[in-house]
Amino acid sequence: MQAKEQICHEDYQKTADWLLSHTKHRPKVAIICGSGLGLLAEMLKCQESFSYSDIPSFPQSTVQGHVGRLVFGELKGKTCVCMQGRFHLYEGYPLCKVTFPVRVFKLVGVETLIVTNAAGSLSDGYKTGDIMIIKDHINLPGFAGQNPLNGPNDEQFGLRFPPMSSAYDKDLHKLALDICKKLDCSVQEGVYCMVGGPNFETVAEARYLHKLGADAVGMSTVPEVLVAKHCGMKVFGLSLITNKVVKAYNDKEVNHEGVLGVSKMRAGTLQTLVTEFVAQLDSNTAD
Ligand code: HPA
Repeated sequence: MQAKEQICHEDYQKTADWLLSHTKHRPKVAIICGSGLGLLAEMLKCQESFSYSDIPSFPQSTVQGHVGRLVFGELKGKTCVCMQGRFHLYEGYPLCKVTFPVRVFKLVGVETLIVTNAAGSLSDGYKTGDIMIIKDHINLPGFAGQNPLNGPNDEQFGLRFPPMSSAYDKDLHKLALDICKKLDCSVQEGVYCMVGGPNFETVAEARYLHKLGADAVGMSTVPEVLVAKHCGMKVFGLSLITNKVVKAYNDKEVNHEGVLGVSKMRAGTLQTLVTEFVAQLDSNTAD
C-alpha cells in the first residue's frame, strides 16, 4: 500500500499555498495533539481553524477522541499551528499520508515541531498520569520496512540517509526540564516505542518491548518525527502515560476509554507545560 502511494513536492506546496492564502498567521511552531489532548488547540488566541475535510489533499481523521481540525493562532504571543487529531498507520493510511501535514508545515514556514501522544508505560518506575519527555524512540514498524521516508528521496526536503541519533532536540529537552522544575511538575525522560496497533500489546510483546529498551509504547509520533527531522525541523516530544502496559497474565486489560479518561484528567497539566514551553521558545525559532 505504502509503496504505491506517491506524493510529489507540488502536492505539499499546493496545500501549503492554500493555507497561506486562507490564514493571516505565519506559524514557526507546529503542535500535534495526541489522543484526548486536542484541547491544547483551544488555548490559541485569534484562532483561524480549518476542518481537515476542507483542506485540499488533507487526510481525514477517523479516531474517536480526535476532532480533525487545523487550528492557527497565538499561544503567549507566539504564532502556532495545532493539529487537533492526527493520522495513524492503523487507520489504513500509508505513512506518506500520516506525515503529509508535517511537510506542509515545513512549506508554511514551521521550524519547530512539538508532538504529544498518549502512551502505555513499560518502565516499572512510571505511574499512570506521568508525563514523559521523549528522549529517543524505537521505530518498530521501521524494522519491518514501514518508513515514511521510503521511496524516491525529495532532496528539497532533506537527505536520502538522514541521521536520527539526535532526532529530539537537546536544547528543547533541557528547556522542558527547566520549565517542569519551575512548575514543580515531576517528569520522566524516556524512550518511546512505536507499534502499528490498533490492538494493545500481548504480554509477550510488552515484555519484549521493555527488554528492547522502551519505557513507553504508543501507536503514533515516530513517522511525524522522522519526516520533521528529515526536513530540518527541531523536534520536541511529550508522552502522557495513560496506562501501564500489561506485563503479567493476571493483570487487567487496557481499553481505549481508559486511555482517553486519563488523557482528559491530565490534559490541563500538559496544556500548562506546552504553553509555558512555547512561551519560552527562542524568539528566532518561534516568531
Ligand atoms: N499500547 C499502545 N499504545 C498505547 C497504549 C498502550 O498501552 N496506551 C496508549 N496508547
